[in-house]
Amino acid sequence: MKLVFATGNPGKLREAAEILGEGFELVTPAEVGITEEIPETGTTLRANSLQKADYIYKRTGLDCFADDSGLEVDLLGGAPGVETARYAGPGHDARANMDKLLAEMARREKEAGMDCPRSARFRTSVTLIIGGRHHFFDGVMEGHIALERAGSGGFGYDPIFIPEGYSQTNAQLGEEVKNRISHRGKALRAMAEFLRG
Ligand code: IMP
Repeated sequence: MKLVFATGNPGKLREAAEILGEGFELVTPAEVGITEEIPETGTTLRANSLQKADYIYKRTGLDCFADDSGLEVDLLGGAPGVETARYAGPGHDARANMDKLLAEMARREKEAGMDCPRSARFRTSVTLIIGGRHHFFDGVMEGHIALERAGSGGFGYDPIFIPEGYSQTNAQLGEEVKNRISHRGKALRAMAEFLRG
């Protein structure tokens, strides 16, 4: 089955291909002539994944899916949430985003004058459009935020996210482990099961 995946992020594309496995051919927006940045202006993850999938479908009429993910940190009242990609500014700079998150958590902890919980979770919302019909799939990965960056694998906030039940960051655990437990893994496997019937 051929599906356009509404992402320009090679890390995500590789992960999705790995998670979906045989029987799926993933095509990038650029490969179907969409080279501009796809708008993402919603206030929820669901709204953003819907907006991105709709954008592809309206321009190409092809079966497609989009995901939108966010990191919720309890100490920060659920931030950065839908702002996760541009937490430190519009440049989507992963290093700057992580530095800002760690600094913000340290500041809150200093204000509180004690050690604070570092619990957090990644959420993914996937919108699939097949034959013009919309389907939605969600996934969550619980964990906590490390005190400093560790590891070189993965992408985004992986060097500072330690999943529940593990003592290393996503960036240290490697792709195979991460895909088994990740928010995106859960949502995309649910989508693959649905498509396989
Ligand atoms: P989006 O789904 O591409 O909008 O992702 C939002 C933000 O979450 C980006 O900054 C990503 O780097 C980050 N993000 C999404 N999924 C992951 C992940 O699996 N690991 C680390 N960061 C992620």
